[in-house]
Amino acid sequence: MGLMDNKVVAIFGVANKRSIAWGITRALVDAGATVALNYQNDRMKDSIEKLVDELPYRPWMAPCDVTQDGDIERFFEGLKAEFGHLDGLVHSVAFAPKDELSGEFANTSWDGYALAHKISAWSLIPMCKLAAPLMEGRQGGVVSLSYVGSEKVVEGYNLMGVAKAALESNTRYLAANLGPQGIRVNAISAGPIKTVSAMGIGGFSTILDHVEQRSPLRRNVTPEDVGKAALFLLSDLASGVTGQVLFVDSGQSILGA
Ligand SMILES: NC(=O)c1ccc[n+]([C@@H]2O[C@H](COP(=O)([O-])OP(=O)(O)OC[C@H]3O[C@@H](n4cnc5c(N)ncnc54)[C@H](O)[C@@H]3O)[C@@H](O)[C@H]2O)c1
Repeated sequence: MGLMDNKVVAIFGVANKRSIAWGITRALVDAGATVALNYQNDRMKDSIEKLVDELPYRPWMAPCDVTQDGDIERFFEGLKAEFGHLDGLVHSVAFAPKDELSGEFANTSWDGYALAHKISAWSLIPMCKLAAPLMEGRQGGVVSLSYVGSEKVVEGYNLMGVAKAALESNTRYLAANLGPQGIRVNAISAGPIKTVSAMGIGGFSTILDHVEQRSPLRRNVTPEDVGKAALFLLSDLASGVTGQVLFVDSGQSILGA
């Protein structure tokens, strides 16, 4: 018996084999879940098509670019038609224009700020709204991905830090709103991991080195570490946990200067 047997989980954010969402997908599939994946565009579809060959079954997949009107709605309509219900939702989606992820925060543009927030924070809200009716009576769980730059200043993280603060606040408001329906909403604050998105952040390799040298566990976390924590939060093991931000960061965030 797997922890996620007979459970359907929609996962947003697999781009390639390094994606945190792929680590989460592997952990959920190993635990017996039936996963459904989005792809942002056709280029990413091709890359994911190759990846899913590694899974024991071919997952249901559909396009969804969260900036395109109607895409999130169409994704959930397709999901409803295919499965009729949903037990879990993973939001592992973020974006900010590269030129905003280095240099002075005071230079942040409105367009960059708005886009980063739409993709990285706001999109969780319509996803949860559309997931909720499919989770009725099923004790559903939602997990999103944050970073410590939401609460402490991390050089170069700039407007993504502000978007992550919004994402974490969304998590608490959604947890309060959807809790009476038995739906739990949590976030994982992951330590730095070398993914395509992360490499766009100015000074990222220095951050990786710092965690390896100074964190309590003296290593960087992996998508597998995050996958196991997401499995915990989405499973019945976390039945009393909602509205929380769980750090999966080798303990880095407990350290002072
Ligand atoms: N890598 C890290 O160091 C780190 C640390 C903490 C949190 N996170 C968070 O983890 C999540 C996943 O990032 P990752 O590091 O695995 O990188 P990644 O590049 O593998 O994943 C980012 C995903 O966001 C998706 N995305 C971007 N714009 C989109 C749009 N308009 N519509 C739909 N999807 C869109 C991409 O398709 C991609 O799948 C993000 O929320 C990121 O902020 C990453």
